[in-house]
Amino acid sequence: MKKDPIIAIIGLGYVGLPLAVAFASKYKVIGFDINTKRVSELQAGDDFTLEISKEELEAVLNPVNKFGLEITDDVSKIKEASIYIITVPTPTNKYNQPVLIPLEKASETVGKVLDKDDIVIIESTVYPGVTEDVCVPIIEKTSGLEFNKDFYAGYSPERINPGDKKHTVTKILKVTSGSTPESAKYIDDLYASIITAGTHLAPSIKVAEAAKVIENSQRDINIAFVNELSKIFRLLDIDTQDVLDAAATKWNFLKFTPGLVGGHCIGVDPYYLAQKAIEQGYNPEIILAGRRMNDSMGSYVSHEVVKLMIKKDGKVKNGNALVLGITFKENCPDIRNSKAIDVISELENYNLNVDVYDPWANAEEVKKEFGIKLISNEKDLKPTYDAIVLTVSHQEFLKFKIDNYISETSVVFDVKSFLPEDIIDGRL
Ligand SMILES: NC(=O)c1ccc[n+]([C@@H]2O[C@H](COP(=O)([O-])OP(=O)(O)OC[C@H]3O[C@@H](n4cnc5c(N)ncnc54)[C@H](O)[C@@H]3O)[C@@H](O)[C@H]2O)c1
Repeated sequence: MKKDPIIAIIGLGYVGLPLAVAFASKYKVIGFDINTKRVSELQAGDDFTLEISKEELEAVLNPVNKFGLEITDDVSKIKEASIYIITVPTPTNKYNQPVLIPLEKASETVGKVLDKDDIVIIESTVYPGVTEDVCVPIIEKTSGLEFNKDFYAGYSPERINPGDKKHTVTKILKVTSGSTPESAKYIDDLYASIITAGTHLAPSIKVAEAAKVIENSQRDINIAFVNELSKIFRLLDIDTQDVLDAAATKWNFLKFTPGLVGGHCIGVDPYYLAQKAIEQGYNPEIILAGRRMNDSMGSYVSHEVVKLMIKKDGKVKNGNALVLGITFKENCPDIRNSKAIDVISELENYNLNVDVYDPWANAEEVKKEFGIKLISNEKDLKPTYDAIVLTVSHQEFLKFKIDNYISETSVVFDVKSFLPEDIIDGRL
């Protein structure tokens, strides 16, 4: 295992790019991605995910020292690396089953360029066992090298929170692990050299894999609980946010808020754990109940909005609705697996014409992903809407003058408890 390793990062998305940039301050890093458009954008200093600024990217692309970042879609360029870190997507299919194809393909890529004594670290979120039982056999087969004799593996889950400029990659404590005590120590030291928040060396790769998947499953279940509370309290005509504020005064009350659970982590990772449990003959009741509750929230919000519209004698059939926000979370352009789409399609089922306004999302991507013509500029909105639903708490929406777009009978619904109470008719 080398003292001054060259590091290859495979997959330059929300996770891979910030990691590559962080390592590039102390190591020579080669970032590899199969998406040629992404590669040429990054080579020009442009990160559409907005996680890394042009200045930060240009600083590592044109380093003043021997380190820095080279970005490529040419696999032969990563051969000189001795550390390979895989950060490719781990989505689910339409049956909510894990899709490991990108990880398998990336393992093949690494296997083709691997040399003796190299280390392969997986960062993608997986269920316990994927690194050693899925990736390692592929790497052994394509490289012809023997695991734990000729090469080693590790798992170090990523915990970044896109859009969050406070908890960035080096400021989040990192869990590490390795396939032998020596490789585990080496991997831990490697991350410790750039992660200022420190590292936690887990006793095995499976423990590290399980730790990551339960972090997101725990959040999912907690959000499902407050979503259920919201459904109960709306029936009782009690404001859920007021209840949560009161309960949160107890020192050990956990602060979670109701809402839509989209994206590719919290709404997806529990299915990875569930799948593994089912394979072992165990039915994961709580995990899947949480998923069902959270997945039901989009259509629930629309039903509540329409009920309020009917109460106010608003125009439902052929009325106009405005949904504020289509990204899966606030202050971030990521639309993958956004649950705002469930709100939109259910409102459309009630024959409402739905406009979607989001200053963060990319209109082209929204058209491609959901077939929706996104409104990116406030001046393109209609003069009045029969219903306005805030689904995402982008900072820009604090300045949005809802008053200008409503009439006496309009309904304003706040999914995120983000808007002033005096302008809303309902919230989760
Ligand atoms: N985004 C997050 O908030 C977050 C946080 C923690 C963990 N994770 C996990 O990290 C992993 C990556 O997520 P992401 O959000 O960065 O995904 P992403 O889609 O933003 O990026 C993945 C990148 O990998 C590339 N890629 C796909 N297959 C490849 C291959 N075979 N070889 C090389 N490149 C390939 C894609 O082109 C893409 O640029 C997932 O497992 C995810 O669950 C994500």
